[in-house]
Amino acid sequence: MRVDCKAFVREQVEEIRRVVGEATAISALSGGVDSSVVTVLGHLGTGKRMKVIFIDDGLMRQDEPRQVKSIFAKLGIKVQVLDAKKRFFDAFQGLTDPEEKRKAFRDTFYRVFGDAVRASGARFLLQGTIAPDIIETKKGVKTQHNVLEQIGIDPTSGYGFGVVEPIKTLYKPDVRRVAKVLGLPPAISQRMPFPGPGLSARCMGEVTPERIAIVRKACLIVEQEMKGSRAFQTFGVLLADRPTGITKGGRRREGDAIAIRCVDSEKAVLATPTKVSWAKLMRMRDRILKEIPTVTKVLYDLTPKPPSTIEYI
Ligand code: XMP
Repeated sequence: MRVDCKAFVREQVEEIRRVVGEATAISALSGGVDSSVVTVLGHLGTGKRMKVIFIDDGLMRQDEPRQVKSIFAKLGIKVQVLDAKKRFFDAFQGLTDPEEKRKAFRDTFYRVFGDAVRASGARFLLQGTIAPDIIETKKGVKTQHNVLEQIGIDPTSGYGFGVVEPIKTLYKPDVRRVAKVLGLPPAISQRMPFPGPGLSARCMGEVTPERIAIVRKACLIVEQEMKGSRAFQTFGVLLADRPTGITKGGRRREGDAIAIRCVDSEKAVLATPTKVSWAKLMRMRDRILKEIPTVTKVLYDLTPKPPSTIEYI
């Protein structure tokens, strides 16, 4: 059944107002469509009694923290950017195993987030849980729904802390429609999926500020060149291998390998490689070689999901 977006917004704003009352709330904004919608609903329901934080984990795409801040400023919503880059990069030190990297990200995220929630003195946490998150949490695929436990707050401790999940009945297409109704620009309402662990999911081997800077440039080039395509996701990946290349002077040297990943998909459960034109592939290759001088190999990833995944960790 199609959701009546205007009625949905009215009802949820009313509900947030009723639940939060005169207390204060906090929303952690990532710039994704779910947390953005919840942040605007929370703002409409509580106004200045809601604090909005954006955790800068150092794993965002080019200019992302500034862009998100400015989009919300235009809606009259102040976003506090919390610089947690060092905590994340410290946690990644020495790790190359994909699962260990994911765990380091998750543990650090919940620690940073928990600290911010406690420091804010807020009584309510607004969370962008959507319908598939609840289904996947029940199946044990995700832990997202048990957020209080993750951030170390016991809801039964008498601390009186509550979670508000205004969009938990919605699926993604409806969240995007509600985003439009709320006046969020296409940069948010039509935002391409981006993983929670950010660019670390596109960086094989160790995650360091230097290696993230390389993959950030590759992602920017691929996104810019693929803009307007119907691909579900488009990005660059830094591989862990150090393939041999050759300098202009003819000397052998080791360098970086970048994979270009563009996939067509509906819900990210299945995916096929996008048929990118040869001319476009050559243009992306030329830009990657020019703008990232350490690169000695550029590859196009041809694998569907399954057996591959969309991301690399
Ligand atoms: P995979 O790589 O498993 O990804 O085929 C499926 C979809 O989910 C995104 N993705 C994530 N999103 N946290 C997220 O919020 C994560 O840890 C995560 N890992 C993957 C991915 O970008 C794709 O859209």
